[in-house]
Amino acid sequence: MQLSGKTAIITGGANGIGAGCVRRLASEGANVVIADIDDGAGTALAAELGESVIYVRTDVAQRRSVEALFAQAVDAFGAVDVLVNNAAFVHKPGVIANFLDYSDESWRRTLDVNLTGMFYCSQVAARLMAKQGRGGVIINMSSGGASRAHRHMFGYDTSKGGIEAATRAMALDLAGLNIRVNAVVPGSTRVDQGTAVGDAPIPPADVIPLPRQGRPSDIAAAVAFLASDDAAYITGTRIVVDGGMDAQLRSPAVDYGYDFSDHL
Ligand SMILES: NC(=O)c1ccc[n+]([C@@H]2O[C@H](COP(=O)([O-])OP(=O)(O)OC[C@H]3O[C@@H](n4cnc5c(N)ncnc54)[C@H](O)[C@@H]3O)[C@@H](O)[C@H]2O)c1
Repeated sequence: MQLSGKTAIITGGANGIGAGCVRRLASEGANVVIADIDDGAGTALAAELGESVIYVRTDVAQRRSVEALFAQAVDAFGAVDVLVNNAAFVHKPGVIANFLDYSDESWRRTLDVNLTGMFYCSQVAARLMAKQGRGGVIINMSSGGASRAHRHMFGYDTSKGGIEAATRAMALDLAGLNIRVNAVVPGSTRVDQGTAVGDAPIPPADVIPLPRQGRPSDIAAAVAFLASDDAAYITGTRIVVDGGMDAQLRSPAVDYGYDFSDHL
């Protein structure tokens, strides 16, 4: 129960990795606000987890919606200590397109949700945390695409590069208020709406060194650590949770195999 007495807002918390973070932070004793545009999934998750978890319909790309979110969070729980910027325009038509075919509409929506949404939520959070006077934590959901490109995901990868630059910039500007800002970098993570590596004809074990896709709970574990006081001296950096993808040059299926049997 590392987060007893704390309140966390998780954007995009109704599904996938965000829902995993909601479950984990609630299990650590936090009050949790799910901020999402998926009313069905958001209200169902809040109802399942009890009165310490509420759902507030929020479009992170609209500043007024974000301001209303924080006002409702303070009304319900008295303060906000942790913000997880997880909402993204992802797993939707238009996200995956070769650069030659990439549309204005996808570009605008991607930047509106992934970057402008992160800016609005973080600024409203930081101003509130400054007034509260007890520090705070902001965690940005990045992607391996921030530093190594997916094929056909120009806008998404550009936004995630921006997320990591923003993480460093906010960390420096807010350090004097003891507001810590870090990024978590998931690898290919199995989610209901996903179309990632797991749906390709190649099995994850041929691509990922720890031979499986990630689970939302794997990512949530890093988020819970960064949100806790165990991470009190960590800011401006990133934790990669990707089964070793970031470390490898070539996929397991391409590299020379190794027979472990002599060592077992
Ligand atoms: N799944 C992966 O393999 C993977 C890998 C790397 C990074 N990520 C990142 O993890 C995060 C979560 O992705 P996921 O795979 O769980 O996706 P998901 O689609 O399951 O969840 C995204 C959530 O964001 C919500 N959302 C979308 N637009 C919103 C808006 N304008 N305002 C509020 N909420 C909005 C959706 O309704 C949804 O609940 C994203 O930032 C994504 O880029 C995912």
